Amino acid sequence: MPAGCTRGPAAGDGRLRLARLALVLLGWVSSSSLTSSASFSTSSASAVSAQPPPPGLCPPQCECSEAARTVKCVNRNLTEVPADLPTYVRNLFLTGNQLSVLPAGAFARQPPLADLAALNLSGSGLGEVSPGAFEHLPSLRQLDLSHNPLARLSSNAFSGSGNASIVPPSPLVELILNHIVPLRMNESRSFEGVVAAALQAGQALRELRRLELASNHFLYLPRNALAHLPSLRHLDLRNNSLVSLTYLSFRNLTHLESLHLEDNALKVLHNGTLAEWQGLAHVKVFLDSNPWVCDCHMTDMVAWLKETEVVQDKNRLTCAYPEKMRHRVLLELNSSDLDCDPILPPSLQTSYVFLGIVLALIGAIFLLVLYLNRKGIKKWMHNIRDACRDHMEGYHYRYEINADPRLTNLSSNSDV
Ligand SMILES: *[C@@H]1O[C@H](CO)[C@@H](O)[C@H](O)[C@H]1NC(C)=O
Ligand SMILES: *[C@@H]1O[C@H](CO)[C@@H](O)[C@H](O)[C@H]1NC(C)=O
Ligand SMILES: *[C@@H]1O[C@H](CO)[C@@H](O)[C@H](O)[C@H]1NC(C)=O
Ligand SMILES: *[C@@H]1O[C@H](CO)[C@@H](O)[C@H](O)[C@H]1NC(C)=O
Ligand SMILES: *[C@@H]1O[C@H](CO)[C@@H](O)[C@H](O)[C@H]1NC(C)=O
Ligand SMILES: *[C@@H]1O[C@H](CO)[C@@H](O)[C@H](O)[C@H]1NC(C)=O
Ligand SMILES: *[C@@H]1O[C@H](CO)[C@@H](O)[C@H](O)[C@H]1NC(C)=O
Ligand SMILES: *[C@@H]1O[C@H](CO)[C@@H](O)[C@H](O)[C@H]1NC(C)=O
Repeated sequence: MPAGCTRGPAAGDGRLRLARLALVLLGWVSSSSLTSSASFSTSSASAVSAQPPPPGLCPPQCECSEAARTVKCVNRNLTEVPADLPTYVRNLFLTGNQLSVLPAGAFARQPPLADLAALNLSGSGLGEVSPGAFEHLPSLRQLDLSHNPLARLSSNAFSGSGNASIVPPSPLVELILNHIVPLRMNESRSFEGVVAAALQAGQALRELRRLELASNHFLYLPRNALAHLPSLRHLDLRNNSLVSLTYLSFRNLTHLESLHLEDNALKVLHNGTLAEWQGLAHVKVFLDSNPWVCDCHMTDMVAWLKETEVVQDKNRLTCAYPEKMRHRVLLELNSSDLDCDPILPPSLQTSYVFLGIVLALIGAIFLLVLYLNRKGIKKWMHNIRDACRDHMEGYHYRYEINADPRLTNLSSNSDV
């Protein structure tokens, strides 16, 4: 720039300052790009999906309160968990979204969300929870997955993605899985089995104290579903379709305090179950709104109910079947009330017996008539056979006549 050289020293001074400023700017840009690439490499090295959050910043779709340690991303139709959650978060609400899949390490961050204690994913359209979806949350105590149609709940959802037979305990204390039944289930596995597998995997839920499984259309619980939940205090199985508890073991639930079984399809409880409950030190059981069947199989349960303190709502239990016992209160039944023969109501039974006798009589008379008439029948059949033969021969004859022109003439002549 020769023109610039002709200018005075003051102008040269200004250019020098400009150049210095440019240098400083350049340095800043390059250093910041360097740090960002460095941080990028650390995050990719630790295989964590998110970049480090600017600490204390709130994701755009959420409301954050640092004082309350709470982040709410509610009713936002989010399709994935926000990457940049503030590290102070203790209570995280992600309800009313459309997450559909919760991948492995969905909440793993660098640095980790070390204080996250309560995570609410209720009603967020989740259909699939992958193995280890809640990994790297060392303080997670309460998890609510209610009202999600969980067609694909990994058996390692709560136990981490490792496949050791016994894994480190999950920090979960409260697990809320109400109404997680999907509309359609993969044909190859029962929903009951899928949920039971997730509760048992790796014996990870050793610290769990509260488990809610209400409104899931459960028809049964697999034998070992509760075998590896030794700390359980509260179990809620309300509003399912449980028909029987005969094969389910409660023996390991030595700390159980409340067991809710209202609004199921229980018909009777057998000695084994009653003895197990009686053996648990602190348990209170709730059994209202089940269709109890008051026949001879109910005798043991009624006798036990009259004695026990375990069943809290025992005054409210009533018979649903058989018809003559409907609405009778279980506690007021005598063993003489509980009998077993009436599979059908007595009136119907007698009418069926009567109908059977009448049908048998008609059949016998029919056979007798056949027998007595056997000669007549033979004769009758011969007659029919002969008549048929005559008829057929007549046809045959006429046919031959029609076929032969001479005979046709003859026959027409003879007609004349
Ligand atoms: C979420 O989606 C529903 C239905 O698609 C829509 O009515 C609602 O306005 C959406 N909410 C937000 C916050 O976008
Ligand atoms: C989770 O959020 C839902 C919807 O707001 C609420 O009904 C439910 O009580 C919450 N769960 C817990 C454990 O607070
Ligand atoms: C899981 O077990 C299989 C074999 O049973 C093994 O090949 C695999 O490496 C294991 N994975 C992990 C994460 O331990
Ligand atoms: C059903 O389960 C099988 C094996 O568990 C799997 O291969 C298949 O993809 C599943 N189908 C659906 C529709 O989820
Ligand atoms: C009982 O469960 C069904 C099906 O899961 C659900 O639609 C219904 O709302 C539940 N009822 C109550 C009172 O929770
Ligand atoms: C009770 O728990 C122990 C240890 O977790 C387990 O080995 C056993 O199978 C459980 N028993 C029953 C009946 O569930
Ligand atoms: C159930 O237990 C009671 C009392 O312990 C006993 O009298 C009864 O015979 C038992 N019933 C059955 C079917 O074992
Ligand atoms: C049950 O038996 C007791 C004494 O045996 C009797 O007083 C009572 O009326 C009986 N109750 C019914 C409903 O039969």
